[in-house]
Amino acid sequence: MTAPKETRLILEHVDQPGYTTDIDCYLRHGGYEQLRKALTMQRADIINEVKTSGLRGRGGAGFGCGLKWSFIPPTNTKPVYLICNADESEPGTFKDRQIIHKDPHQLIEGMIIACYANNAHLAYIYIRGEFPLGAKILNRALDEARAHNFLGKNILGSGFDCEIYVHRGAGAYICGEETGLIESLEGKRPYPRIKPPYFPAVFGLYMSPTIVNNVETLCNVKHIIRMGGAEYAKLGKPNNTGTRILCVSGDVNKPGYYEFEVGSLTLGQLIHDVCGGIRNGNRLKAVIPGGSSAKVLRAGEKYKIKEKQSDGTLADKEITLEDIPMDFDTLAAVGSMAGSGGVIVMDHTRDMVEVLANINEFYAHESCGQCTPCREGSLWMKKITHRLTHGQGVANDPAVLKSVADNIAGRTICAFGEACAWPTQSFLAKFPEEFEQAAKMASAVNGSPKVDHSKAHDSAVALA
Ligand SMILES: Cc1cc2nc3c(=O)[nH]c(=O)nc-3n(C[C@H](O)[C@H](O)[C@H](O)COP(=O)(O)O)c2cc1C
Ligand code: SF4
Repeated sequence: MTAPKETRLILEHVDQPGYTTDIDCYLRHGGYEQLRKALTMQRADIINEVKTSGLRGRGGAGFGCGLKWSFIPPTNTKPVYLICNADESEPGTFKDRQIIHKDPHQLIEGMIIACYANNAHLAYIYIRGEFPLGAKILNRALDEARAHNFLGKNILGSGFDCEIYVHRGAGAYICGEETGLIESLEGKRPYPRIKPPYFPAVFGLYMSPTIVNNVETLCNVKHIIRMGGAEYAKLGKPNNTGTRILCVSGDVNKPGYYEFEVGSLTLGQLIHDVCGGIRNGNRLKAVIPGGSSAKVLRAGEKYKIKEKQSDGTLADKEITLEDIPMDFDTLAAVGSMAGSGGVIVMDHTRDMVEVLANINEFYAHESCGQCTPCREGSLWMKKITHRLTHGQGVANDPAVLKSVADNIAGRTICAFGEACAWPTQSFLAKFPEEFEQAAKMASAVNGSPKVDHSKAHDSAVALA
């Protein structure tokens, strides 16, 4: 059912009575018509339409899709690959799975159009290991697409050949990072590659140009072909176009996945009008707006944004957490990010030290171990928050935590470094009193001496 304020483009048919994953059902709803249209277009025109649409990646970084596609060197003579990133491992995010389970042909149609536009004849859907049903549904849908000559040789008589294979991961978060994913697809340990020089569009799979896009990003492609880039760009806001699926979890009455024009509603409208408010009549305490690695935002604080005036100039404006529009640029301006669209809502009963301990446990488990700051730091952050929640902390723990996090961000091969440091940095910055209190209580119980910062490692090891 469509919730208030929703605009369903990608989820139009998802959960509708009678809508199935069968290709016949998809064809009855206009399926593969945009592929037919795209195959009559020039490749460069498709890329231009995607550029004009302003579509930004829905996997986390929000990078311009058309711009990424145009990075393939014009002089390239190597094969080009397309990879659909269906790893969906960011805690709080569960949209790609819905698309795969309920409308797999929409993704496949988007992928074939993307392959045609980028002159790729081979594509992979890299799906996380924990999605066995999704892999089965996709394989069945791919067989159906082959049987209808939407895949294979000389697709619909166009002369274009294309194949798509499903590749199942083994359940590692780092395989969602595009270069780790590529290594894994090559059959290796998923150690991310350093960028530069290993930007996938230049040195990707088998060192050939490779486009990596998220499931939701690729689904948008057929709608851009149908509507035209300029029309699509009217959805949402300038630089924040189209629709976005938001996955809401945590302390709301109606958690779930919902689709909106980007920035068309505020966080408060999302929580109260769409998700039925905070559970048990509790008060809103904090929100992580874009998956667990996005920086936490605290209720009751004022956030500064720039607002366009009638004369076209920009002026500062202060808004509350609940007034923040859910778009890429505003969430970045208030110090967090739209990320993967996973909105985690916390009410006033939540202990923020415990929440961070939970997040840190995840990141310590998932570090690939390649860089020292990330491998060691993520473990330290886990140990320190763990002991704080078990009454075993020491007075300096908040300071040590901050120093560990500060020494990870910006010092690693891949953005996992930021992903694991940002929660600690932001929880400490937004809720210092809770960390100080936990450290004080633990020190009182243990009679622990103040720890010299330089001895932090010894204390971490001793107390682990
Ligand atoms: C640690 C880490 C994990 C990531 N996990 C995912 C993921 O599960 N799914 C995804 O689409 N992108 C993930 N990304 C982002 C990808 O590296 C890449 O930017 C994205 O797939 C590009 O697609 P898009 O431009 O369509 O968003 C992750 C990035 C990092 C740093
Ligand atoms: S930042 Fe972490 S996950 Fe990324 S390469 Fe380094 S150790 Fe691996």
